[in-house]
Amino acid sequence: MNQKVIDALHSQIDKERDASITYDALSIWCSANDFPGFAEFFKKQAEEEREHTEKIIEHMLDLGVMPVLNATKAPPSQFKNLLEVAKAALAHEKANTAGVVETYEIALAEKDYPTRNLMNWFIDEQVEEEVWANRMVTLVERATCAGSIYTLDRHIVKDLTGGE
Ligand SMILES: [Fe+2]
Ligand SMILES: [Fe+2]
Repeated sequence: MNQKVIDALHSQIDKERDASITYDALSIWCSANDFPGFAEFFKKQAEEEREHTEKIIEHMLDLGVMPVLNATKAPPSQFKNLLEVAKAALAHEKANTAGVVETYEIALAEKDYPTRNLMNWFIDEQVEEEVWANRMVTLVERATCAGSIYTLDRHIVKDLTGGE
């Protein structure tokens, strides 16, 4: 595997791990602030991000490259309100999409088609990820009174995952 592609995949692993620990932190904030629905949703997201990391690791191992993990930075823990939390999630997904696209372009330029194909999967996945993150921001913005935000919390998992 070309070194530029290896570097790009390592950087994407860093982003996925950062997303995972950030979602753990968002989940904890939501639990601490009495939003159990949002907490559950972010916990699931953290797990999904771990699966994304795993996918890249397996891809590298399959192609005979040993992935190296870096330290993850401490995730944010202080938020003013739920809207700030939702916006943090959206910002993370957008950064993640940018990383995926960059990795795709490097793989293509270096004619690494297996990695390009893997990034195709991630590009599709990021569409879904940005859909829920955008929707979450919209729903939280709409829930302007205390009552509506707690109703939203009760339905958020079902709303964003289609009841899965
Ligand atoms: Fe991801
Ligand atoms: Fe994600």
